[in-house]
Amino acid sequence: MYRFKDFYHNEVQLSFEHNPFSAEPKHVWVICRYKGQWLLTEHEDRGYEFPGGKVEELETADEAAEREVMEETGGKIAELKYLGQYKVLGKEKTIVKNIYFAEISQLEEKDDYLETKGPVLFKELPANIFQNRKFSFIMKDQVLKHSLQKVETNYLARD
Ligand code: GTP
Repeated sequence: MYRFKDFYHNEVQLSFEHNPFSAEPKHVWVICRYKGQWLLTEHEDRGYEFPGGKVEELETADEAAEREVMEETGGKIAELKYLGQYKVLGKEKTIVKNIYFAEISQLEEKDDYLETKGPVLFKELPANIFQNRKFSFIMKDQVLKHSLQKVETNYLARD
């Protein structure tokens, strides 16, 4: 298990085991690839981030992942892979979030992307995300680094 602080100095615990913190996490985050590029969304307040959000009532975390990716990017998931889970011990509350990797088969154009400006594709993620004001705080702690490492070794390993 990894422990570190997030952008706002809240403690984060991260693990790539199966459901280490909760069997029913209430948040999801989906690292998306579309045609060899990273697929992010541009949140109106937070900036660029991988899509995700809250699990709704009567919905599983996997279903929430699929719904959030569609709502925030128009992306249709070909295959959803559970990667790990993290826990943020915030000042007011603690949240548990599932991390997924998803291959996107189709990007559907939509009239409305809810609280986001829709899909943004990156060939490479910039090296200096931490200092980049266009990027969301959720991309600014070690969850991103460790999760991308997992994705690279498990799903993108090239020869
Ligand atoms: P509601 O008022 O119930 O809608 O929720 P909220 O606005 O308090 O936000 P939410 O439940 O989504 O998140 C609770 C806290 O966790 C907030 O301080 C968020 O900023 C923080 N948080 C949510 N997602 C992440 C994340 O991916 N990483 C980090 N580090 N913090 C997060």
